[in-house]
Amino acid sequence: MPNYRSNSNQGLSLPHLMSTTLFPEKTIVKPTISKPFVKWAGGKRQLLLEIDKRIPSEILEAKGFTYIEPFVGSGAVFFHVMNKYGSQIKKAIINDVNEDLMQAFECIKNTPQELNKKLLRISDEYFSNNTEEKRKAYFLESRKLFNTKTNAAISNTALFIFLNRTCFNGLYRVNSKGEFNVPFGRYKNPKIYNPELILAISEVLQKVDIQCTDYKKLISKSKGPVLYYLDPPYKPLSQSSSFTSYSKDSFNDEDQEELKTFCDAINKKGFRFILSNSDLKNNEPENDYFDDMYSAYKIERVQANRAINSKADKRGKISELLISN
Ligand SMILES: C[S@@+](CC[C@H](N)C(=O)[O-])C[C@H]1O[C@@H](n2cnc3c(N)ncnc32)[C@H](O)[C@@H]1O
Repeated sequence: MPNYRSNSNQGLSLPHLMSTTLFPEKTIVKPTISKPFVKWAGGKRQLLLEIDKRIPSEILEAKGFTYIEPFVGSGAVFFHVMNKYGSQIKKAIINDVNEDLMQAFECIKNTPQELNKKLLRISDEYFSNNTEEKRKAYFLESRKLFNTKTNAAISNTALFIFLNRTCFNGLYRVNSKGEFNVPFGRYKNPKIYNPELILAISEVLQKVDIQCTDYKKLISKSKGPVLYYLDPPYKPLSQSSSFTSYSKDSFNDEDQEELKTFCDAINKKGFRFILSNSDLKNNEPENDYFDDMYSAYKIERVQANRAINSKADKRGKISELLISN
């Protein structure tokens, strides 16, 4: 993992980042189930069963397998696979190019208790503001501090989770300078402090290799069975539905083509993959872009509810692609 941040807090003062006070320990009951700790554009919660059904029996019947998720996002599929097949997984690798996100996974893995203390402090501070206006001001000050990129890992992760819980739609979106710019979300009771979940995730992550690099570097050297789940930024159905700002670098057609080359490379090595992407036929029935590109593989269409769309009339069931070898 790269060394993300320096330790200094410049200028701005949010008490939770300065305090060394010890917190009264609360009784924490661990849930058995781990699940995403952030909301993420393109989250795959609603497609879990469709994806699960397509995990090859050859993988599940093997003595053990390697699981690799190069575009992990919030990890909806990763957590599902770990909860259901964890005992069969010999090795798991999760990766995403988003540094704040992967730092958060690392931090939950290695320092869950310290992170929980920070989140408790932030949650207490946030709710001690008794008007929406004051809560919004606290949000904006936290966002500014987050964007200085000068916070130590645990503080940065606590801010990242706090902003995700309290921002509009739980989105992560950055501008061209890489600054998180999602507005305040006006939730009544956002769950900022959820120690049971953080501990459950930490336990799952103990045997997981966490990386933050370009997906192309994740060609496994394993000799045994390997399953990849690939969930790249979708090719937009139209310019207005475009959401590719998970990071300041967008994912364009050239990237989609390179991803196909990556699929060919892992296929050649005998690894199995399941890939999701948008179905361009929703808007243009004649559009064969993905059908042509992946003609050598199995292409299936499944129904999904559009997760992020600002226009209410455009919400509803649409078709998405699941491509596998
Ligand atoms: C559709 S989202 C994944 C959503 C995820 N399946 C979930 O359930 O939350 C696509 C992810 O790909 C990441 N990404 C974009 N370009 C990448 C690259 N070149 N290498 C690795 N990850 C990348 C983005 O940061 C984003 O988190």
